[in-house]
Amino acid sequence: MTIQTSISSWATLVVLLCASLTHAHTVITYPGYRGNNLNTNGTIAEANGLGVAYNTKNGSLYYPYGMEWIYPCGGMPTSTNRTKWPINGGALAVQPGWFPGHETALIYVNLGFGETPENMSHPVVSPFQITGPTNNPYPGTFCLPQVPLPANISVKAGDYATIQVVEVAKHGAALFNCADIIFADDHDPEIQEVTRDNCFNSSDLSFQYMYTTSAIGTSGVAMVKPQSTLLALVPIMVAVFFGSFL
Ligand SMILES: *[C@@H]1O[C@H](CO)[C@@H](O)[C@H](O)[C@H]1NC(C)=O
Ligand SMILES: *[C@@H]1O[C@H](CO)[C@@H](O)[C@H](O)[C@H]1NC(C)=O
Ligand SMILES: *[C@@H]1O[C@H](CO)[C@@H](O)[C@H](O)[C@H]1NC(C)=O
Ligand SMILES: *[C@@H]1O[C@H](CO)[C@@H](O)[C@H](O)[C@H]1NC(C)=O
Ligand SMILES: *[C@@H]1O[C@H](CO)[C@@H](O)[C@H](O)[C@H]1NC(C)=O
Ligand SMILES: *[C@@H]1O[C@H](CO)[C@@H](O)[C@H](O)[C@H]1NC(C)=O
Repeated sequence: MTIQTSISSWATLVVLLCASLTHAHTVITYPGYRGNNLNTNGTIAEANGLGVAYNTKNGSLYYPYGMEWIYPCGGMPTSTNRTKWPINGGALAVQPGWFPGHETALIYVNLGFGETPENMSHPVVSPFQITGPTNNPYPGTFCLPQVPLPANISVKAGDYATIQVVEVAKHGAALFNCADIIFADDHDPEIQEVTRDNCFNSSDLSFQYMYTTSAIGTSGVAMVKPQSTLLALVPIMVAVFFGSFL
């Protein structure tokens, strides 16, 4: 890549980032999520080190490190404007690059059942790693067109559930976001159509599926190594690479 093309790639990135910053403060772009939680307020000092603290003067909560770090749904309460989602599972589209520290990130997708789920302890996809263009915030979307339901869970049209997306940064901190859904029959016309516009993989993101080996030993060696080591460690690794950043 010449310096000029790399500068123009950067310019494109910055433009895309600004566009997404002004137009859509969304993290889960399909199905609709609980709302904008890209919010940091209050100071770390006044929260005395807490991730979420209570302002005794006026009863408001503040999030000096940012709302998205709060389990289970990034500081957002259950929403009332639920989105219909297919009873046999459906699409999920996410913008993973809003915060620094996500040049690589692990993604987990879980379901919680009921109007306000007791837990989000039902994983629906194997955790996977994404690699983005930079450790700074970046634009870009990934989409899983067919996220299944957990094995042995059956739901009926009209049941409520919440999709939780967890994004673990390079340093291990996790961002949380949720979409509240109502299950609907596959042919329900109110399910938002999945198209190339709302469900796509950006060219500057790549994916690594991860498989753990059996015993690594008792020395407490980290299971997930940086990518190059990971290649040597795991028996199978499927890497799908797109675009010009390689
Ligand atoms: C639900 O309402 C909130 C607040 O108006 C909004 O930010 C969010 O995008 C809405 N979600 C859906 C799925 O419509
Ligand atoms: C509560 O007080 C803080 C300052 O202490 C202020 O920044 C914030 O906007 C207030 N919130 C509400 C909901 O009044
Ligand atoms: C911080 O942001 C949250 C979410 O928007 C809001 O509910 C809260 O009142 C804000 N706190 C302060 C102190 O402004
Ligand atoms: C999570 O909640 C479900 C109900 O949605 C319940 O059946 C299950 O036992 C709970 N799991 C844990 C680990 O608490
Ligand atoms: C699902 O149920 C079947 C039959 O009860 C059982 O054999 C299987 O282990 C269960 N699978 C999971 C993932 O719980
Ligand atoms: C995006 O990439 C993932 C991982 O390779 C893949 O499972 C998914 O189907 C892709 N999405 C689309 C819309 O092609």
